[in-house]
Order: sequence, then C-alpha cells, then structure tokens
Amino acid sequence: MPSLNSLDYGTPKRTSATLVTLQVDGVAVTVPAGTSVMRASIEAGSKVPKLCATDSLEPFGSCRLCLVEIDGRKGYPASCTTLVEPGMNVRTQSDQLARLRRGVMELYISDHPLDCLTCSANGDCELQDQAGLVGLREVRYGYEGANHLDAVKDSSNPYFSFDPAKCIVCSRCVRACEEVQGTFALTIDARGFASAVSPGQNSSFMASECVSCGACVQACPTATLIEKSVVERGQAEHAHVTTCAYCGVGCSFRAEMKGTEVIRMVPNKDGRANHGHSCVKGRFAWGYATHKDRIKTPMIRSRITDPWREVSWDEAIAHTAAEFRRIQASYGRDAVGAITSSRCTNEEVYLIQKLVRAAFGNNNVDTCARVCHSPTGYGLKATMGESAGTQDFDSIQHTDVIMVIGANPTDGHPVFASAMKRRLREGARLIVADPRVIDLVSGPHVQADYHLQLRPGTNVALINALAHVIVEEGLLREDFVAARCEAGAFETWRRFVLEARNSPEASEAITGVPAALVRGAARLYATGGNAAIYYGLGVTEHSQGSTMVMGIANLAMATGNIGREGVGVNPLRGQNNVQGSCDMGSFPHELPGYRHVSDGITRSLFEAEWGVSLDAEPGLRIPNMFEAAMDGSFKALYVQGEDIAQSDPNTQHVTAALGALECLVVQDLFLNETAKFAHVFLPGASFLEKDGTFTNAERRISRVRKVMPPLAGLGDWEVTVALSRALGYPMHYDSPAQIMDEIARLTPTFTGVSFEAIDRLGSIQWPCNGAAPDGTPVMHVDAFVRGKGRFVVTEFVPTHEKVNQRYPLILTTGRILSQYNVGAQTRRTANVAWHDEDRLEIHPHDAQDRGIRSGDWVGISSRAGETVLRAQVSERMQPGVVYTTFHFPESGANVITTENSDWATNCPEYKVTAVQVALVSHPSEWQERFQRFSEEQLRLAERGRPVHT
Ligand code: SF4
Ligand code: SF4
Ligand code: SF4
Ligand code: FES
Repeated sequence: MPSLNSLDYGTPKRTSATLVTLQVDGVAVTVPAGTSVMRASIEAGSKVPKLCATDSLEPFGSCRLCLVEIDGRKGYPASCTTLVEPGMNVRTQSDQLARLRRGVMELYISDHPLDCLTCSANGDCELQDQAGLVGLREVRYGYEGANHLDAVKDSSNPYFSFDPAKCIVCSRCVRACEEVQGTFALTIDARGFASAVSPGQNSSFMASECVSCGACVQACPTATLIEKSVVERGQAEHAHVTTCAYCGVGCSFRAEMKGTEVIRMVPNKDGRANHGHSCVKGRFAWGYATHKDRIKTPMIRSRITDPWREVSWDEAIAHTAAEFRRIQASYGRDAVGAITSSRCTNEEVYLIQKLVRAAFGNNNVDTCARVCHSPTGYGLKATMGESAGTQDFDSIQHTDVIMVIGANPTDGHPVFASAMKRRLREGARLIVADPRVIDLVSGPHVQADYHLQLRPGTNVALINALAHVIVEEGLLREDFVAARCEAGAFETWRRFVLEARNSPEASEAITGVPAALVRGAARLYATGGNAAIYYGLGVTEHSQGSTMVMGIANLAMATGNIGREGVGVNPLRGQNNVQGSCDMGSFPHELPGYRHVSDGITRSLFEAEWGVSLDAEPGLRIPNMFEAAMDGSFKALYVQGEDIAQSDPNTQHVTAALGALECLVVQDLFLNETAKFAHVFLPGASFLEKDGTFTNAERRISRVRKVMPPLAGLGDWEVTVALSRALGYPMHYDSPAQIMDEIARLTPTFTGVSFEAIDRLGSIQWPCNGAAPDGTPVMHVDAFVRGKGRFVVTEFVPTHEKVNQRYPLILTTGRILSQYNVGAQTRRTANVAWHDEDRLEIHPHDAQDRGIRSGDWVGISSRAGETVLRAQVSERMQPGVVYTTFHFPESGANVITTENSDWATNCPEYKVTAVQVALVSHPSEWQERFQRFSEEQLRLAERGRPVHT
C-alpha cells in the first residue's frame, strides 16, 4: 500500500547533465534527459492516471492507463515508457484519452470485488483513486463472467496478507521484489486471464524465498498486499519521520500513527540511507515497544536474592545517587563506572559519558563498541586519521569491484545488501572473503567471482597475501601513494609484504585459500576499476582485529581506492548508533570527537564548558571493569541499554563479575539478563519514545522523533539529568536539541550540526563544519585527515586459541536476518516465526564423523564452558568450522567464547573458539543453572510489583 501523503512521480528520477525542455498541457517543464513523459507531466503539475507505474520501479508499460497525446506521434503512447524529447508537446487530457482510460479501468474493475466501503484500504487505494481520476461511474460488462473473486487469501506471513481476489496483475510486487529487494521470490504464473502472482512455485509467502522486506506491500496499488496492522487497526491519521533503531544502515521511516498508536512503519522515500526500502526488522518488528514485558516503573532491591520493590522515579534516583556516593566514599572515586549503549541516541550517550567524567569524576566509561567495532576506530585512525568509514552508501553505485570481508550483508545490513545486489546485477564484480558460504556468494542473479573461504583467525595472513600480489605484480598506484602517503612507511610496508612468507603460495597453508584464487582476487581488486571494501565483525572480532583493519586500509591506499565515489573502506557497523556512541566519547580514553583525555587543550575546553576539572588518566575498559569487580576494587556500575550478561564473551566470568558488584544499575526496556544481577532497575524508553539523533555506518546523523510519550514517564536523557543533579552535578538542558548544540560547540567535526540543520537537510554526514556546511559524503578526497596516509606493517600473529585433539573444531558466530543481537526486541515480535532458536551449523563430514543429524541435540564444549544446541547440518560450512547465532539467552553461545581479545582494543575474539561437538541428551550444567536462576529472578520481579486490578 502507498504511504500517507507521498507524491508518486510514476518513474524513477534520472540524473543527466543534459536537460530537456518540453510542454505539458501548455506548461513548460525542464527535466534531465532520460526522464519519462509521465514524470515530466507530474512535475509540471498534470495528473496522469497510472497503475503499473510507481517511482520506485522501472517503467513496465502494462496497464495502458497512462496514455497521452504527443504532437507528431501516432496513436496514444504510454507516458511511463516514453522518454522526453526537446520541444515535445504533450497533452494529458482529452475526450478521447478519457474514453480510452475509462475503458481500461472498466476491465480492471469488472474483475475486482466491489467491497470498497469495507475494504481496509478504502481511501488509501490507488485503484480507487485512479478510477475516480478517470471518471469511471459504471461497469458495462457486469460481474457475472469469469473472474478471480473466489481466489484464496494467503495469511501465512505474520505481518501482511495477500488476497489474490483484489489483484490487478500489475506486476509491481514482482518487480519490487526483483529491482528493489533483489530476492526474486515472486513470479507471474500463467498468461492472459489466468495470470496470477505467485510466491515461489505456487507456495505460500512463508514457504517461499520471501524475506518479508515489505517492498511488494509498499508497491502494491490495491489492498491485495496489505499490512495486517492496517487491517486490524484501521488507517493512520498522521505520520512522523524517524530512524530505525536496529542496524547501522539507519533506514529512515515514516511512523504512521493513530493517536499514539503505531499503525505501520513505512520506509521513507526521501531517506538517504535507504531510499524507500526496508527490511523485516525496521518495517515490521516494532511491536516490542509496547510488549507486555516492558517495565514501566523503577525498581530497587538490596540483594539480588531479594524481591524487587517498585518505587517512584524520585526514590530510585535518590537511592542510586546515594549508593554511588557511598561506594566512592568507601572504596575511592574510581570504584564506579558506566557503560553506554549504541542503541541509545547521540544525546543520551553524550550525557552518560559526561555524567561519568563530570559527576563520577573519573573516565570509567565504555561502550558496546568495545565488543564490535573498536578495532575499526583504532585501525582507520592510525592509517587515515579518522575513526570512520570513508563513503556514503550511494557510493556503491559507482563501484566496479566489491570486496566483502567478514560481513554478511543480506542478514546483517539487508537494505544496503539490496543496493549491493543491484549494483552486482548491473555488472559489478564481487570478491567475498568469509569462512562460510554466505548468501552473496551465490544467489539469484548474483555470483561471487571469488570466494576466499579462509579459516577463521587467518584474516591478516590473507590480506598480506593479497597485498603481496599487488606489489609483486606491479599493480600498485604508485602516483597515488607518492602524492598522498608517507614515503618511509610505505617503503617499509612494501618490503614487508614482498617477503616470500607473505606470498599466496606460502599463506595457503595458513588460510586454506588456494593461492590461485588469492592471486585472481588481488588482480581483480587492483585493476578492475573502482574497488570498494565492505567489512564487518568478521574482521574486527579477532585477536588481530585492529591489524586487519589496518591491512584493509593499506590495500585501499596502495591501489588508490580512497578519496572518491565508488571506492573506499567501509565498516558495516552493527548497531544503529555504534558510530555515534563512539563519536560521543564513550571510550575511557577519549573525549567526544576521538580526542585523548590526556590532551590538556581538549580537556580544558570541556572543563570550561562543564565547570569541573577532568581526570587526565584513561579509565577502565569493560573487561577491566570485570577484572576490577572480581578483585574488589570496582563496586558500582551503571549500564544503559546493554545486556552484557548475554552479549559479552565468557558469560560465566561476566556474571561472576556482575555478582561481585555492590550496586548494579540497569536502565533498559526489559528485565534482561544483566538486570537479573541488578540492584536498581530504571525503565528505559524505546526509539519511538525518544527525541534525538542516531549516526549510521556512513557517518549520517538522522533525527529520531518521539511518536509516543515515554511509557515510564521519563526519557532516558531526563533520567541522566536527574541522576546527575542528585549526585551534586546539575546539568541544564530543556531538550535533546540543546544537548546537540553543546556537542557541536565542543566537537570540531560537528560544528555545523544542529536539529535545525538536520531538519533542513534531511540528514547530515559528519564532518559538518565551516569547511563542509552540508556534511561530507566522501572522506579523504584531497588529503587524508591525518595529512599523509600511513602504511602499517601487519605481521600475522596466529591466535592463542588453538585447535587440538580435545577441541578440534573452530566455532565462529554471526547474526541472522530476522533476529537482532541479543534478541531482546526481535524475540518479542512475530519474527520468531522465522527463527525461534539458535542452532549449530556443522559441515556434513564433521556431522557424519560424530553421528550427528539435523535436529539432534549437540553439546559444544570449549576451554571456557559448555552449552547445548540443536544441530543443523549445512554445506555452507567448511569442514572443521562450526557456526551459531547468539540471539537467545538460553543458547549460551557466549558461555563458550573465550576472553581472548584484540591486542589494541580488547575487542573480544568472538569469531574463533576451539570447540568439540558431540551428541548429548540433556542441557548443559550451565543451561540448567541459567534456567533456575532466570525463573527465580522473574518470580522476584513479579513479587515486587503491586497487584493491579
Ligand atoms: S516481502 Fe520482500 S522478499 Fe518478500 S515477496 Fe515481497 S518484496 Fe519479495
Ligand atoms: S499483488 Fe498488488 S502489486 Fe502485485 S500484481 Fe497484484 S495488484 Fe499488482
Ligand atoms: S536494514 Fe537495518 S536500519 Fe534498515 S530497516 Fe533493516 S534493521 Fe532497520
Ligand atoms: S502506468 Fe503506464 S502503462 Fe501502466
């Protein structure tokens, strides 16, 4: 169904240096060459009827409703498929056109149920609108003849229904699935009167390849494909533009509302990250926001064995402040700290680090980026001078060679994956470096030229081998390097990668990737035109995560693939605001804008604004907080919007550390795994209840707008302000806009950012300042941010995590499309229909050796612990490597992962754990303990709540 109040131009916008002027209904209009007559006419203010055309899809020309008259042309051309020409004279209205259009519309309506008054789309239906537009008043053919009115409805998808009786076979859904989403799940079966839309081979939507992105629903001009929420609750009354709170793509949505109730989330055509596309999470999985499990009242307790007691906000804040001050008085100023969340807004994150630095008086603040992209910050800063990706997403439209390393975009960053697949269908070449056969390796109309199926933990050996080929075979861009990079560092690196031990032939024994494939991929990357690298947690979550990021930057600099559209180094950030939470000074050694706390000039800037003196010593990282908790020197922790008990590695170590704290404060939507160890629970606000900004993977700052009041009465920023005041450090803000103004005053890359500027421009990519008032889509254009690019020697150091006879397999982890990270949100939506448990993927050979079949319960043991999952025998795996997702707490995926971490940033080595797998018949000891503890904690929460009648 079309979205509220958006004008549809019928065909996509074209860009061309050549402009064409024509006359439409006597009005002169100038458009880029390649524009359709339909679009030009609508831009000129004319109304052209249409059914098969919509501006998100290429013209198709099937419905014949959009006929126009053009001087000098015979007949009545379809305006959607006719391109503008200079001097054309077009008429969109005439008696003859009206007659023809009515005739076409009559045929459609004669095979359409006449239940408009009771149809859920009544008033928001293109068929109805167009019938009105062409002036159809009667249907001469009657409704008695052959028709499709008895066709059976498909309600298998949890979020939308498909009623073929209402289908006009315009093919918009089929084309949306192909052109926009790239899944090719729909076809038009049969021909002529019998033709009908079909998911897969006449299956239901749920049984087909459909990934529930909603593009077909969005494109459908009738109520054939319609959101169930619209059917159940009626149509929306108003809409707010906001930003998805799931992944780092940062899709823009129109939250369509009835009062304070969300009716549906419609991807925003003007959203610069998504251009009107969405995935199942942002489009449909928002029901968690009002789930019954939401905790809406603050709670406190003395010990974690006590029942929770519901209290007022005032009491909860006063109690928390008193506990933090008591602990600091007893154990010292550094005995307390906080963890910020990449799920929260920039403004909320900024306030938490300010609370720690100004009110706690130390630098003990860290963020969940510690466990995902901290090596990105380190590696890109060291080589190029800025801790962020170099491009905007649209840059991929100019890319000739796409290299995807350690990322699974179709599951992790689905909307960007669709853009990537579109570019691949247009002819771009693809290199995938991943231990698994991810969907991109081979899919509908997408085939990787090279799949470098390396062993987990050998990334650096692979990147060195790629670099070796480029240097050895003279594929370097010597001119770029000479002009843009430090000569001495380059020469050292050049000699290093040329060493025989870094050749693909020598590395093959380490990586498992045939040398010929490495050579082919290196040649393609270096000589195939614009080449861009996209990478994910498969790069960063290793003991050499930072080294690998620098290796990637080296490769891009050596081949001149930096500083223009179509190229670059692009970390696909995991969470919605992971870029922002890092920008905002969440790390214990950095103030906002990545400036070290030991830098006196930066510190005095903040001291002057905040009116306090700041600690010059970096604070504790998350793993150090756990260690300090265990040794008794760290006693109180404030965790906002994170579930470290589920997400961090070596669960048993984490929970032991949490159990050692005297005061654990958790601010969240739900009583998550971490909250089960807490003494204070502060209810958090969902993204629908927030005002602020998120920064996506392309440094794009977008507004998050409050569409409903906070269910617990206070926004997260208001809670931080109240807590700071109670701690004796009052903060003075009336709104999140004022917080952003302070960020802009203090952060050179944000100088031009304000809510007003974002509202005016739609979104802004930082740096945004005097030099770039509208933001910066592509970085390092004329020079690197650090001046000269710096090559870094990337010696391959194997991980300590070794396979042996006891632990002969390597476990690696990842995400799935329908669930999100710890699953706290998506598990509370109908997305469980696609994935309701984590499974262990295992190669058929390894499974056969162990007598394992799909569906069997298997125990997975590592040096850290043991858990039990069901097996999924899968050819996606290579022998010797097993894989699981980690979306369900009872899976205990992180019971197995170890405390090994990146040498530079402590980012955990989630991607390499030596394990053994064996058939078992009952849950692990940890799972049994977890189950008992969880049930007890839920009982304690229930007992603390007053009974409401
Ligand atoms: S929801 Fe998306 S994937 Fe599924 S059929 Fe529609 S367009 Fe294709
Ligand atoms: S389901 Fe909708 S979009 Fe698809 S062919 Fe039918 S009417 Fe057109
Ligand atoms: S791709 Fe990411 S940001 Fe976009 S709708 Fe999906 S989860 Fe949300
Ligand atoms: S809108 Fe042009 S042929 Fe259908």
